[in-house]
Amino acid sequence: MARAHFAPMGTTALITGASSGLGVEFARELAERGTDLVLVARRQDRLEGLAVELAERFGTVSTVIPLDLTAPGAVDELVADLESRAISVSTLVNNAGFGSYGRFGSLAPERVSDEVGLNVTALTALTRALWPGLIAHARTAPATGALINIASTAAFQPIPFMSVYAATKSYVLSFTEGLWYEAKGTGLKVLALCPGPTDTEFKKVAENERLFFGNPQNARQVIAVAFRALDRRSTPPSVISGLGNAASARSAGLVPKRSLLTALGRFATPERR
Ligand SMILES: NC(=O)c1ccc[n+]([C@@H]2O[C@H](COP(=O)([O-])OP(=O)(O)OC[C@H]3O[C@@H](n4cnc5c(N)ncnc54)[C@H](OP(=O)(O)O)[C@@H]3O)[C@@H](O)[C@H]2O)c1
Repeated sequence: MARAHFAPMGTTALITGASSGLGVEFARELAERGTDLVLVARRQDRLEGLAVELAERFGTVSTVIPLDLTAPGAVDELVADLESRAISVSTLVNNAGFGSYGRFGSLAPERVSDEVGLNVTALTALTRALWPGLIAHARTAPATGALINIASTAAFQPIPFMSVYAATKSYVLSFTEGLWYEAKGTGLKVLALCPGPTDTEFKKVAENERLFFGNPQNARQVIAVAFRALDRRSTPPSVISGLGNAASARSAGLVPKRSLLTALGRFATPERR
């Protein structure tokens, strides 16, 4: 087997949304590779439980920072907290995110603002704040740090009744792919991970338990796809998890928009589900 090219051993990674789903699996894989962690999410008890598990299994140190990333000033607070603890972050996993399902006009306005605030605004602000440090670290120790942003197969086409979510994920994909180019030659790996339906708490948060069709992947499978991409000497700008997901995401761009929206809209109409 080829040697893993991404070697974050002895460095520190910050993961947002580390209390559940994909965030937990990112934490486990990074800790297994010898990375200390900063775990961020709102549910402190979950983060503390994970920190103990990682210390026992892998001997890594985890700093738990409970935080609502949609709260005003949250990213500034987080960055100040890192500075006060003298923590220098070499890998950033912008994973925290959620979706809302339903007619746009029926969604609570605060929920819509929080969705954009978490999926787009906090992700961008945190990346901007940590970017100089990520680049500086990567220049001295190439392939030991990364920026990993979690987009979605929802990024590849609009999705009626999840219009805000799909738009936020298109942003994440485009933003990350642009940064991939900007980081070229620095040693920093930049990757947008695009999962399809994955068995996490996502459906519950989106308030639609019947959101997915077919067989969802599990979080471990999805994370393995990200690390396979990171372990390539030349990490691609983005990767889609699952062959079927990749085929449908890529073919979405080939179907005329009106037909695509009609099919997706019919499938997703709330009254039919
Ligand atoms: N599951 C899927 O089918 C799927 C598919 C494609 C993409 N994704 C993306 O994958 C990422 C991870 O989602 P998941 O599937 O693992 O869902 P999940 O199990 O619901 O995890 C979401 C994480 O985000 C955190 N979070 C939510 N609101 C937050 C806030 N205001 N401040 C700080 N942290 C917050 C949650 O922690 P707290 O509640 O403790 O704050 C949790 O740790 C998301 O960006 C999602 O859009 C998921």
